[in-house]
Amino acid sequence: MPRHLDHWTLLGCGALGGVLAGLLAEAGNQVSLLRTNDAEVRLPLQLSWWDLQGHEHHFEPDFLQTKDAANIRLLLVTTKAYQVQSALEPLIGQLPSATPILLLHNGMGTESWVRRAFPDNPLLLMVTSNGALRLGSEAFRHTGAGETWIGPANAAARAWQPLAELLARALPHAGWSEAIHHKQWEKLVINAVINPLTALSGERNGSLLQRQDEVEALCEELLPLLQRHGLSGDLTFWRDKVLQVARLTADNYSSMQQDLACGRPSEIDFITGFVLREAQEAKLHLPLHQQLYQAIKAKETP
Ligand code: NAP
Ligand code: PAF
Repeated sequence: MPRHLDHWTLLGCGALGGVLAGLLAEAGNQVSLLRTNDAEVRLPLQLSWWDLQGHEHHFEPDFLQTKDAANIRLLLVTTKAYQVQSALEPLIGQLPSATPILLLHNGMGTESWVRRAFPDNPLLLMVTSNGALRLGSEAFRHTGAGETWIGPANAAARAWQPLAELLARALPHAGWSEAIHHKQWEKLVINAVINPLTALSGERNGSLLQRQDEVEALCEELLPLLQRHGLSGDLTFWRDKVLQVARLTADNYSSMQQDLACGRPSEIDFITGFVLREAQEAKLHLPLHQQLYQAIKAKETP
């Protein structure tokens, strides 16, 4: 039976990590924040966050560095997908092999590297539709409720199912999924349609309700790939799923829109890029997604 379930170390305290750290601390967990790069940290760390009701909370997590890796019992990685490798690299050979690694980011494609770098660690994947905003380096806002799924990416991770219950005490609608790759693919479809379209137009997610033909065409291209990965659902199912998220988040700018607007790198290589790599392996041609990929790459600050 795994121990230390209530001591979480978070690698990546941005919008989502900051809010999750706050929610976990509020639910009685011990929370440490880890930095594996040289970015400056002002100590003692005092984080503020606002919950969905607008209530302000404060807490003081411990601060860890790479040299403290041997004491990490549970590692939740909440960096952007393109930061996962550089953030985890310094921990190779330092992190105890019994320590579970939980990966939480949009997009897919980091898992294979993590498996190779940490072959013995339990590896878990997380998917969430919660929303979070970073108000400053130490201030965060929980902006939207959603579902969170956690599931095993290797056999050693199966013993860690109790984590789902623990998470559910910190944030509502959290559950265990043996089919976590399906959950990742579902989110990937949503991100592969909404994010590049809105990042290119600079408009809010709700604008896609007026572009339903484009949404449908992008979903249609994905169907054979989804079937290959064991996801059922016809064109109507996937189009309606994407449009439902566009409707529910109509007033929001997608993360890719925000990344490009702020001159930050986007997660396109782990969203559309991942889709295209999978398609190539399956000898499938996805010209519309290919065009979106190239257009985003052209717009991304080098
Ligand atoms: P973010 O605000 O950019 O947070 C990422 C954090 O990781 C940053 O604070 C960054 O620090 C930190 N980081 C990078 N390398 C690090 C290292 N070596 N050591 C310690 N910290 C490191 O991004 P986010 O919005 O939280 O998103 C994180 C992931 O969750 C993304 O994949 C996103 O798509 C996904 N997601 C986000 C939301 C949301 O509402 N925000 C919802 C669902 C999913 P620096 O700023 O110093 O580089
Ligand atoms: O990346 C994002 O912005 C979000 O995952 C989503 C669901 C597209 C809503 O904006």
